[in-house]
Amino acid sequence: MTAAATTTDTFRPALHFATRNTWINDPNGLIFHDGVYHLYYQNNPFGSEHANLSWGHATSTDLVSWTNHPVAIACDEQEDIFSGSIVFDPQNTSGFGKDGTAPLVAIYTSAYKPASALEGVQAQSLAYSLDGGYTWTKYAENPVLNRRSADFRDPKVFRYSGPAGDYWVLVAVEAQDFQVLLYKSLDLKNWEYLSTFGPANATGGIWECPDLFPMAVGGDPEDVKWVLTVNLNPGGPNGGSAGQYFVGDFDGATFTSATTVTEGLQDPERLGDYQWLDWGRDYYAAVSFSDAPQGRRLMIAWMNNWQYVHELPTASWRSPMSLVREVSLQRLDGSWRLVQQVAGDLALHPELNPSFTLAEVEIAEGQHILRGAAGAVQRIDVTLTPGTAEEFGLVVRGEGALGTRIGVRPAEGTLVVDRRESGHTDFHEAFASIDTAPIRAADGHYRLTIFVDHCSVEVFAQGGQVTMTELIFPSPSSNDVSVYAVGGSAAINTLHITQYA
Ligand code: FRU
Repeated sequence: MTAAATTTDTFRPALHFATRNTWINDPNGLIFHDGVYHLYYQNNPFGSEHANLSWGHATSTDLVSWTNHPVAIACDEQEDIFSGSIVFDPQNTSGFGKDGTAPLVAIYTSAYKPASALEGVQAQSLAYSLDGGYTWTKYAENPVLNRRSADFRDPKVFRYSGPAGDYWVLVAVEAQDFQVLLYKSLDLKNWEYLSTFGPANATGGIWECPDLFPMAVGGDPEDVKWVLTVNLNPGGPNGGSAGQYFVGDFDGATFTSATTVTEGLQDPERLGDYQWLDWGRDYYAAVSFSDAPQGRRLMIAWMNNWQYVHELPTASWRSPMSLVREVSLQRLDGSWRLVQQVAGDLALHPELNPSFTLAEVEIAEGQHILRGAAGAVQRIDVTLTPGTAEEFGLVVRGEGALGTRIGVRPAEGTLVVDRRESGHTDFHEAFASIDTAPIRAADGHYRLTIFVDHCSVEVFAQGGQVTMTELIFPSPSSNDVSVYAVGGSAAINTLHITQYA
């Protein structure tokens, strides 16, 4: 076995989707159809670099284990297949259905190459499937929506049914202008311009991969708000790629944000005032599934950052997806907040099968290994109460002075993920980071759910009000779990650890 192959296997995730030996970036075409979750994704079928962009394909029924399938929509000499979405067209509005079989229709960005007469243009194109998403045919009349722009991409389509009518709506970005453009269509082929949103809030990098969906506030069907998510790169709250969201109203033509903090261009001092899908460094290009069961809103992201993806120490496969999350919208502290929980089998309650538990223990100043808690792939549920310590929390994937610190600084009001000593960090200057997110105690406590895998930590704090997702590259022997307190003491109320591998 070569050294590169050993490294690859060391970091290969157990709970997250990754390809065997090729490049991936954004999730695409997410849809639940015929009892199966389909995950398509930006993929280079031939290598480990961002090239030959095609849609790879995997399916799952539990949102945790994924089955790989052949490339779904392949690049050719004329075009790369950039990001986009899939809708089920039960009424065959597109006319792609045949013999009573309704089509799945993919709307993707054609990034035209030098061999095309449209070289340099990004326009929206269609492909359809009549076998439930496994094989696809490109529409002969592509593209269907062309502004002759070099940066018009990432169409997300959904069915709008409301006071304004019943039709398809498409949201896509003009990336360099920090704008989301909205269009409508009756047949997915002819598109009529509706409106433009942006620039607004964070504009420290180009806007990519938007999404727009309704949410019942606190589950109340009488109180529906619309959420517009848009990813940007760079300009995230801790640097590089990240996703922000706006909450407001959509009347079938225009999205009106109720959460725009500043008009015009970004004020770097205000990043903390904007709303982020995730505060960590590695949650990008997040989009939601179409047609998820029971009207649930499920999202997944590419677990990476354009800052350093090309240097990741994962050899031939590059890189993983995040866990799938269920999002809900709640009214908190006078504003709306997307609250996120892990979805699928990993959402099972941890008390059912904990391999390690603690209750009501003091964390004295210093760092203390929890004997019997070690593991490389685990779910940790902990409730902490501050004492005199200025910072306290857990160290995961630890060994001696190494480890990833996940803690709280109550006086500062921050959640901290410190990966400076997390293992392999020197492959890129931006990687050895200490990252923070705003957090407030609830009834005097801090509650963290942490998913640890071979190359990542995902932190859901205060029931998912704040999340932080970060890649880490520890040695396989770095498996200790510790608690720590700096400058005083703190307390653990409950701690449950579930080992997955
Ligand atoms: C986001 C992105 C998209 C584009 C795709 C190309 O990461 O840049 O805007 O469609 O990746 O791979």
